[in-house]
Amino acid sequence: MEGELVDLQKQILELKKKRNALIVAHNYQLLEIQKVADFVGDSLQLAIKSAEAKGYDLVVFCGVKFMAEMAAVLSPDTPVYIPAPEALCPLASFVSSNKVRAKKKEHPGAPVVVYVNTTAETKSSCDIVCTSSTAVEIVESLGVDKVLFGPDKNLAEYVRRQSGIEIVDIEPQGHCYVHRMFDVAQIALLKEEYPDAVVLVHPECSPDVQDVADHVLSTGKMVKIVEESPAKTFIIATEVGLVEQLQDKHPDKIILPAYDGAICLQMKKNSLEKIAEVLEDLPEKNLVTVPAHMVDHIRETVERMYRVLGRPSIAGTAS
Ligand code: 13P
Ligand code: SF4
Repeated sequence: MEGELVDLQKQILELKKKRNALIVAHNYQLLEIQKVADFVGDSLQLAIKSAEAKGYDLVVFCGVKFMAEMAAVLSPDTPVYIPAPEALCPLASFVSSNKVRAKKKEHPGAPVVVYVNTTAETKSSCDIVCTSSTAVEIVESLGVDKVLFGPDKNLAEYVRRQSGIEIVDIEPQGHCYVHRMFDVAQIALLKEEYPDAVVLVHPECSPDVQDVADHVLSTGKMVKIVEESPAKTFIIATEVGLVEQLQDKHPDKIILPAYDGAICLQMKKNSLEKIAEVLEDLPEKNLVTVPAHMVDHIRETVERMYRVLGRPSIAGTAS
């Protein structure tokens, strides 16, 4: 991304070169962080990018911990550092492997699909992972009548409606506090002012908010639709980092947050200062590790997702 860089950003770009580092950032990162990243994307795109980290000596992952764990699993030969190791996704904490096991006992034989927003420990007890952009495809690919799904009840409802398959919530309360901030009345007010606006809603929003959307989709797909659509005005119901990115990339379009207070405090724990510190000192506390006994199983659950999506195997892309 172009634009005037501040001193700290210039320092990061120099350190990045010196360390031969790849910096990846989620769409919810502060815009100033997105601007020093080699790649910005949604959770699936970042997982794929990390698996392809060939030729780099390290990855700096600007996002929340579960995403960096995925990168560490998919890129075993390249160390992955997270600037803010304390950046934990509260949605991920709704489901543990104990909860998965208890649900499995209640529904013997039903496959377990977990959203990528889970800890490595939870992923190690599931059959297959999915992301917001792949959930429906993954569930439908299983060819079964019933699936156990978690932790997000709203994404579960989206999959239920799209697929017609019985989706059992592993944790019926599981939700993202940021995506719970949107409401239909706010969107209706914006629509009164901007009647031609296209409404884009993340599937972590509640079903009534999904109902007023023109499209329900992942952050990566939102980026694509704004790029490709001839429409000039968009109302975005997801975290404001994406809204800032889109307005920056498309100064000729009007990009409106459905609610400008929708800020993920955990995503925002990363900062330019922390990125510089990681690149400078490579502190042990910032190195992302996943217990060795979980790694093979998690890789296999991601491989299964890749096979459904028709993507090449991780083994063929990792360094
Ligand atoms: P995406 O997969 O759309 O990037 O979503 C990840 C996330 O954490 C949404 O809150
Ligand atoms: Fe987790 Fe919600 Fe933040 Fe996404 S926006 S990382 S789901 S808390």
